[in-house]
Amino acid sequence: MKYLVSSGEMKEIDKKTIEDMGIPAIVLMERAALKVAEAVEEYIKASESVYKTNKVLVICGTGNNGADGIAAARILSCKGHDVKIHVIGDKKSASALFCQQSEIAVNFGVPMISNLNSAEYTIDESTILIDAIFGVGLNREVTGIYKDIIDKINFSAKRKVFSVDIPSGLSGDSGFPMGTAVIADSTITFGYQKIGMVMYPGCNYAGEVTVEDIGFAGEEKLGINLKYFTYEKEDLKLLPCRRAYSNKGSYGKVLVIAGSANMSGAAYFSAKAAYKTGAGLVKIMTNEKNRISLQTALPEALLCTYPDGELTKPQLDALKEELAWADVLVIGPGIGRKKEAEKLLELVLENVNVPLIIDGDAIWLLGQRINALQKEQDFSPGDLKREEVLLFGRIRYLKSILPDKAIITPHLKELSYLLAVSVERIQQELLKTANQCMEENHMIYAIKDARTVVAFAGKQYINMSGNNGMATGGSGDVLTGVIAGLIAGGLEEYTAAALGVYVHGLAGDFACEELGEYSLMATDISDYISKVMSRK
Ligand code: ACO
Repeated sequence: MKYLVSSGEMKEIDKKTIEDMGIPAIVLMERAALKVAEAVEEYIKASESVYKTNKVLVICGTGNNGADGIAAARILSCKGHDVKIHVIGDKKSASALFCQQSEIAVNFGVPMISNLNSAEYTIDESTILIDAIFGVGLNREVTGIYKDIIDKINFSAKRKVFSVDIPSGLSGDSGFPMGTAVIADSTITFGYQKIGMVMYPGCNYAGEVTVEDIGFAGEEKLGINLKYFTYEKEDLKLLPCRRAYSNKGSYGKVLVIAGSANMSGAAYFSAKAAYKTGAGLVKIMTNEKNRISLQTALPEALLCTYPDGELTKPQLDALKEELAWADVLVIGPGIGRKKEAEKLLELVLENVNVPLIIDGDAIWLLGQRINALQKEQDFSPGDLKREEVLLFGRIRYLKSILPDKAIITPHLKELSYLLAVSVERIQQELLKTANQCMEENHMIYAIKDARTVVAFAGKQYINMSGNNGMATGGSGDVLTGVIAGLIAGGLEEYTAAALGVYVHGLAGDFACEELGEYSLMATDISDYISKVMSRK
């Protein structure tokens, strides 16, 4: 498990390492600068055949990020490279460390250029550019000379661009440029990866990211509770164990309530993925019309069906008994939005006492239910903006009808409908929205996007596996089955949801390596789950 940090968290780590642990700021800075210089030298060595003489231009702001840049310039200059520094901003308001590093650079005779547009020097003359204008201290829109220079970096002749800590102009929190941002080829970041460089579009600005250790004390030593994390391949060790002495009863029973008349695909994908992830037994509750296709496609699954049309009391009683069989329940993939689906959802909400995963049409049905209610009730606590009022009201309502730790897996459009918030707002403020969803500390929200976020109890998992080939029908159905299979195998709900998202994405990555992103289908994701499961 790897932590990712917001700008605020990074500043706190920096400050506490300096103030509480006693490492002088200049020591951290020198180590950061050395890492930048090493990365640049490595590139110079590799590119010597292309450029006989590399010209390095370091563009610095007057804060500590700029000071890092000046120190890196001095180290490279001492090693004999052709380096020049250009400073933007008012030196009168420069940080103390910036002044100190500038003085050292002058002592070492590192050339400083005063005007990038003059005959003296142009950005185009450099073959390597180091961007040290802003780091995590960026706190407002980029305008004026800063904007002009960043745009010039992006739009002038192609050269290698290294950013120090984070591309200047990029918000370390949202991943969106604040006015404009440097498009780097490579970013050397310190201590932890910043969430803004992981989220879209920030990851496209950061280029290749290297995380360097410069001696920050770890989060535990500093007593900081970090909020964001991601999983990597080594975390597959968290997958449920298979025991030598066991039987199908040892790995849990998953009931998948999915598929409407003649729409069996979603049920198939979800149930198959649950088996592929290790569930002992999987049963599908679906419309009678899907019986033959499902029995043919997935003979391993048990089946319990209901007839077309409105469900009668005896039929519902029979289905209720089936609910008692399950250790984990999935409801929603392809069940439709008609009366029979509503009845099924109601049946589950009234009787569920095992972990529950809610997806697809069941999310729409919940949204419909709230919409109907909202006409009659006032959810307003009175002091928030209307959209926020609606959002919190709806989240509170969900708490009142869904069990603790129910896992809900909406894509952005489903979440938008469920919480009455625009897709655009969720897109722009994904992590903030996930934060708000956690407010009631009740349900687990797995918000599906290019970087799926899984939020619960103050923590946010940000997923970095997966690829655009997975934007295909049935992909989300597979995810529900994966999460259910992991819970059936013994994982607690939040770990199962976060690790399930990772496993699903990694299966997609393995499939993509073989098939390419254009041809990837839900079947392929499901087929490659076994490759992920066997790698733990
Ligand atoms: N337009 C113009 N100016 C702006 C804008 C903007 N849009 N946004 C921010 N600024 C200004 C800020 O006002 C700030 O100045 P202020 O501190 O006087 O208010 C200035 O830019 C600072 O920006 P940064 O250099 O990004 O921030 P900071 O000085 O906090 O440094 C840091 C960032 C810690 C260097 C980090 O990005 C980094 O590279 N860390 C590497 C490790 C390191 O060197 N650690 C030791 C640092 S020393 C210390 O922390 C005390």
